Amino acid sequence: MTRPVKRHVEMEALFGADFLPISRKGRTPAPAAAAPVAAKAPAPKKSASSTFPYDWEKDWPSDFQTFRTEVLDCRKCGLCSTRTQVVFGTGPLQTPLMFVGEAPGEDEDRKGEPFVGRAGQLLTTTLKKFGIERSRVYIANILKCRPPGNRDPQEDEIETCTPWLIEQISLIQPQVIVTLGNFATKFVLQTQTGITRMRGSVYPWHGRTVIPTFHPAAILRGGGEKGRQFGELQEDFALIKRTLAEPEPPPPPPPVTSLVELEREEQPAIADDQLELF
Ligand code: URA
Repeated sequence: MTRPVKRHVEMEALFGADFLPISRKGRTPAPAAAAPVAAKAPAPKKSASSTFPYDWEKDWPSDFQTFRTEVLDCRKCGLCSTRTQVVFGTGPLQTPLMFVGEAPGEDEDRKGEPFVGRAGQLLTTTLKKFGIERSRVYIANILKCRPPGNRDPQEDEIETCTPWLIEQISLIQPQVIVTLGNFATKFVLQTQTGITRMRGSVYPWHGRTVIPTFHPAAILRGGGEKGRQFGELQEDFALIKRTLAEPEPPPPPPPVTSLVELEREEQPAIADDQLELF
């Protein structure tokens, strides 16, 4: 699938048919390849035990399945002895939007899914308010196992666990990554600057965009919907939506060396006796 077609299909899945920043009247027909791909999208399937209503797993390519199995068995750090289970992450692989949180809490550890407690409910309702179904985005964490008593992730745990996240990002290839809170923002953007100063802006990141915002748990601690941070969270979600609607950036120009070669090819050969003139 070409990149524009992949993006078209993903955006339609995320926002429905109205995501396009152009009027439907003047719309040119979707590229021919889009139809069969869209038609292949898995049918919604309710699961009694999961908050995640789509059985995306059955459509995962085998390399992703293998990768997931490896992560679920991970024993690379001490958290494996205190966790109930690894919280791998949830969401479709074909999505333009990925959220990265900090680490599973008690509810997530029990259920095996990220953001299913109170902070998760706030994330889900905020997404909904901006017209995005939670089941259409990918959600993961910096750590895949719960730190005991919900303590902060330790540096060695982050170092050991984050290669899994990097692998996940490179398999999913989201257009926009939203980092929730300090731990995710500092790791992804490799910065020491805190979230209060980082939020509200977009950051280019390996051909993609990172948008940092507050962790929903911090919003809850700061007074929930009555707190100042809640308004800023809404601003950041509006920014996420605007960023997703922006047209695909043009491909990068060719490297300078090949431009020089191009010019050489186009120059007519100069006869030896003419060289005297220069
Ligand atoms: N907080 C996080 O950072 N991640 C979760 O999955 C739940 C709470």
